[in-house]
Amino acid sequence: MLTVMGATGNTGKKVVEMLLAAGQPVRALGRSEQRLGELAARGAEVLAGDPSDAAFLTRAFHGSSAVYVMLPEDRESPDYHQDQRRKGEAIVQAIRESRVRHVVALSSLGADQPEGTGLLLTLRAQEERLKTLRDTNILLLRPASFFENFLNALPLIQHQGINADSVDPDLSVPVIASRDIAAVAASALQRRDWNSVVVRELLGQRDLSYREATRILGARLGRPGLDYVQLPPGEMHQALVQAGMSETFAGLYVQMTQAFNEGRVQPRAGRTADNTTPTRFEDFVAELPLDSAGH
Ligand SMILES: NC(=O)c1ccc[n+]([C@@H]2O[C@H](COP(=O)([O-])OP(=O)(O)OC[C@H]3O[C@@H](n4cnc5c(N)ncnc54)[C@H](OP(=O)(O)O)[C@@H]3O)[C@@H](O)[C@H]2O)c1
Repeated sequence: MLTVMGATGNTGKKVVEMLLAAGQPVRALGRSEQRLGELAARGAEVLAGDPSDAAFLTRAFHGSSAVYVMLPEDRESPDYHQDQRRKGEAIVQAIRESRVRHVVALSSLGADQPEGTGLLLTLRAQEERLKTLRDTNILLLRPASFFENFLNALPLIQHQGINADSVDPDLSVPVIASRDIAAVAASALQRRDWNSVVVRELLGQRDLSYREATRILGARLGRPGLDYVQLPPGEMHQALVQAGMSETFAGLYVQMTQAFNEGRVQPRAGRTADNTTPTRFEDFVAELPLDSAGH
């Protein structure tokens, strides 16, 4: 049995789909049986429960040859770090008690940095917690920012005709399709061919600036020349809070983008064949359903 957390989300759902396509027995976890229904219909065993409940996770992980673990985000939480810590501790306790031997854990590029990276610090803390496990082989996946993040801007693009964020417009940064992360995770869950703790960075097909990515997205939306505007940190913070995120989350998000802008989130050894993945941003936007593309 292979067990997957966050099975209705960007990476987890694709991991489940890839494992089912490979004929593997899969247990898919989420908070709602209804949202997991589609995966149940396709042959996954589904289990609904709270990702911060160690007893639930222990039951869910029990009997698994490998598990895919991640920290689902509550962007409205007034204390984001504490909320992520509760989930992270529950995951580690459940791995220990269920005695799973192979764990693929979703972390992030920048998780090597000890301070000043905002949201990424929760992932660093989780890496440290996972490293305390003995007799467990842990693959830490450190992907770049997901292509899917650009979809958060669709309402802004529709209503104001621009994309905006606090990232420097011309800074080329690695960005990746969640599908490419899922492919690496699904393969590792099946192969279970690593020992101890291994870190794997995933940088996507190429680096892209927010300005270029916005142009590519704009062309797909029938808005050629769509502009990207860099917001100062305070304005970005306010925009996130107005969109429903907590003050804490907004502050940590902006701090993370400052770390990007200052070049403090970097791969350990630059771009290599091993950390480059296939999906182009152009392919991703071409596949967007017209509805989610804002038509
Ligand atoms: N986005 C990026 O650029 C990026 C880059 C590097 C690392 N990461 C990390 O990747 C992880 C996210 O991975 P993902 O994008 O695959 O997952 P995701 O799509 O963000 O979410 C996974 C699942 O979390 C559940 N969820 C949503 N809101 C929740 C809440 N308030 N409390 C508890 N569960 C909630 C949802 O499932 P149910 O509602 O069905 O339970 C959702 O399907 C995070 O830890 C993030 O820090 C993200």
